[in-house]
Amino acid sequence: MQLFLDTANVDEIREIASWGVLSGVTTNPSLIASEGRDFREVINEICGLVDGPISAEVISEDRAGMLREARESAEWHPNIVIKIPMGSEGLAAVSILEKEGIRCNVTLIFSAAQGYMAALAGASFVSPFVGRLDDIGTPGIQVVADLAEMFDLHGLPTRIIAASIRHPQHVEQAALAGAHIATVPTAVVRKLVKHPLTDIGIEKFLSDWRKM
Ligand code: G3P
Repeated sequence: MQLFLDTANVDEIREIASWGVLSGVTTNPSLIASEGRDFREVINEICGLVDGPISAEVISEDRAGMLREARESAEWHPNIVIKIPMGSEGLAAVSILEKEGIRCNVTLIFSAAQGYMAALAGASFVSPFVGRLDDIGTPGIQVVADLAEMFDLHGLPTRIIAASIRHPQHVEQAALAGAHIATVPTAVVRKLVKHPLTDIGIEKFLSDWRKM
């Protein structure tokens, strides 16, 4: 399972990319807005930091607007993937864009049925939202597991990006459920590295060494 960073903060991306663990980045309108910067400028900067799929989301709600935005953003860099919200307008846009060679990531997926429809439309990626399903008392990881089994059974090439990841266990569960990618916020990526026994172990090794 590949690791993507779910942020639009370029300092965070630069730091985590330097660890050699990143394969891509996802953004959404909320993450872009929280940076308070120009959309195109941020996406281009991210493309310069990570050599992998970089998701840039459309904000139009109709297919014509989605197509216009997607075609414009896709021109900025070959690694740009257009993130399109699930829905009939979104599916229509995805089926056209994928035929034009523009890769799409269908976002806001909350059921295996939605993921199946996105795969039929030809989406390169689907993003099931694990944490937001957990928030309403439905086990989000089950959607990832169901999609992984379904795509495998039927030979569908769409890649599953486990999104809305809230803690390290979600990452472990996503990998075991068969997600191809987990897109993870920076704070959670930092937690993936840490364990109190590692810190205690380092401290002990160093204090023993100093006693020599
Ligand atoms: O980028 C989509 C997704 O990862 C958002 O996560 O935490 O806002 O549910 P969250």
